[in-house]
Amino acid sequence: MHYAQHPLNALPRGHRLHEYELLRVLGFGGFGMTYLGFDHNLDKAVAIKEYLPDDIAARTRNNSVIPKASQFRGDFDWGLDRFLDEARTLARFDHHHIIKVHRFFEAHGTAYIVMEYAEGETLSEFLNRNGTLTETELKAILKPILDGLEVVHNADFLHRDIKPDNIIIRDEDGLPVLLDFGAARQAIGVKTCSITSIITPGYAPIEQYSSRGDQGPWTDIYALGGVCYRTLTGQAPDDATDRLHDDPLIPVSKQCSGQASQRFLSAIDWALAMDEDDRPQSIGEWRTELIEGKSRRGNFQPTIFTASGTTSSPKPQKRKTTGSQKRSSAKNNAPQMVSQKGRNISAGQGSIGNVFAALCSFFIPGLGQLIQGRLLIAVIQFFAAGLLWMILLGWVIHLWAVLDAARWRP
Ligand SMILES: Nc1ncnc2c1ncn2[C@@H]1O[C@H](COP(=O)(O)OP(=O)(O)O)[C@@H](O)[C@H]1O
Ligand SMILES: [Mg+2]
Repeated sequence: MHYAQHPLNALPRGHRLHEYELLRVLGFGGFGMTYLGFDHNLDKAVAIKEYLPDDIAARTRNNSVIPKASQFRGDFDWGLDRFLDEARTLARFDHHHIIKVHRFFEAHGTAYIVMEYAEGETLSEFLNRNGTLTETELKAILKPILDGLEVVHNADFLHRDIKPDNIIIRDEDGLPVLLDFGAARQAIGVKTCSITSIITPGYAPIEQYSSRGDQGPWTDIYALGGVCYRTLTGQAPDDATDRLHDDPLIPVSKQCSGQASQRFLSAIDWALAMDEDDRPQSIGEWRTELIEGKSRRGNFQPTIFTASGTTSSPKPQKRKTTGSQKRSSAKNNAPQMVSQKGRNISAGQGSIGNVFAALCSFFIPGLGQLIQGRLLIAVIQFFAAGLLWMILLGWVIHLWAVLDAARWRP
């Protein structure tokens, strides 16, 4: 675990809040300070988050938090209510992959949320040490996050700030836990007009840049797609605002082709579609494609494999028409449609695509693999088959020579 420095405006080490002793600062952002605390009643470590929006509030000498000027009092109190609302909502969840909220209380003119302390390191620390992950490693992290997030979405709640910094990989079992829900932060940021401090470039979809953006499960799905992108390529996706025109984002299905299954990569590109209508609309819908690898159901029609060897994948039906929010979706869709083609060629076992690939491989070894984008396997198959043919030819020549010699023997 990375040790954060102790900021000047943090409560001092050893400070007591009820039964909790503050040991050190775990992290701090524009909206709050998170401490490692020790619960002297239950004898265990806890994480304590303090509401401290530093744009509009400051700490006094007696450790209280007050608005910086009287005109900020309304926003400060309003934000405090949102912070407590969020704590109340989070306290309802009891899921191993969602951080548990034990309690919350008001003190020092502000509020505190007491959470379980998840011992481990953040996914960003983990990635900084290990570089990128393989498909299998990423799926092991993704599955539990999807399960947790689905519970959150089913309660009509969004995370709104999914990124590697907000995922802790527990030491205990190597599994992830989601923390730092950004709903309150987003609401306060919009209110205090500090929108740039509430979104994380690369992971925040375009609808989070506007207070009128249409946010929903697809918003968290984009961010989680960004986490997958970072995990596989080593880099966060381009900022959504830079993707509006001449999208520079290289689809992960192109960048990582051959390193992971095409279906998995295309599912990540799907999540990263610019237009929210073009993304998976629910965790369940995305999981089907991403993890389970089944063909899409519901809104999505099956792939048609054409005689020319290409696939046609009908565009997903729109969830709804958002009219005014339409952007250049044709352009933004382009990589996605390409990637869907990629996915469908390598569709599940027994598909027409696989039969075609197998036929190709029979006549020209490796061609089938090449069509499916697996260059390395194609080359190995080509040379292995070549070697086999040479051995077979050697035996035929040898047999012919033996028979020929027997024919001339007196
Ligand atoms: N419950 C927790 N258990 C362990 N570490 C935590 C916990 N909550 C936060 N942290 C650590 O503190 C950092 C900052 O906390 P976070 O809640 O993400 O607030 P912010 O990003 O607004 O500063 C996290 O990245 C993580 O390293
Ligand atoms: Mg955070």
